[in-house]
Amino acid sequence: MLIFLDTANVDQISQAAKLGIVSGVTTNPTLMSREKAADYQATIKEICSIIPGPISAEVLVEGVQEMVEQARDISTWAPNVVIKIPATFAGLEATSVLAKDNIKVNLTLCFSLNQALLGALAGAAYVSPFVGRLDDIGHDGMQVVKDIVDVFQHYQLPTQVIAASIRHPQHCVAAAKAGAHIATVPYDVLMQMMRHPLTDIGVARFLADWQRISP
Ligand code: E4P
Repeated sequence: MLIFLDTANVDQISQAAKLGIVSGVTTNPTLMSREKAADYQATIKEICSIIPGPISAEVLVEGVQEMVEQARDISTWAPNVVIKIPATFAGLEATSVLAKDNIKVNLTLCFSLNQALLGALAGAAYVSPFVGRLDDIGHDGMQVVKDIVDVFQHYQLPTQVIAASIRHPQHCVAAAKAGAHIATVPYDVLMQMMRHPLTDIGVARFLADWQRISP
């Protein structure tokens, strides 16, 4: 399972990039507004230059024609940009138009197997089931991820599944077990994934033991 960062914070992306384990980035309008990144194009271009993998930038308009036009424009900003399109009827139609032009789409706000299946059939490169938001309303978000992975495998659909709306490290464990191709994780969750108190205790003890005998 690959790790994407779910943030528009350029400092966090630069920090995480140094670890050598970040394969892509997903942004959304909420994440952009959190960073007060009013210059959308400049921010996406900067992120695309830091991480060479797929960088998702979401359309900010409704309507098929409007989404297609904006997506075409965004796709010129960088060679690694991917267009996030919502899982609506208009989004599905826009996805099929863009896929025919070889513009990569990440079908976002995806909450069911049916939405993911239709997105894959429309030619989306990625679908993003939102695990945390499903959990929030009492559903089993990770079961939706697993169902999508199983069905895509069964029918050999090339669309990749991004486990999104990840809230804690156990979501990453479950996403990997469910067979998600990618988990897109907030920066603080990425930090938690690596930390373990026994590692810290072990490092301190090894160093202390060595210092006892070192000249
Ligand atoms: C995914 O691409 C979205 O940006 C993100 O995972 C949404 O997560 P949230 O439910 O925490 O807002």
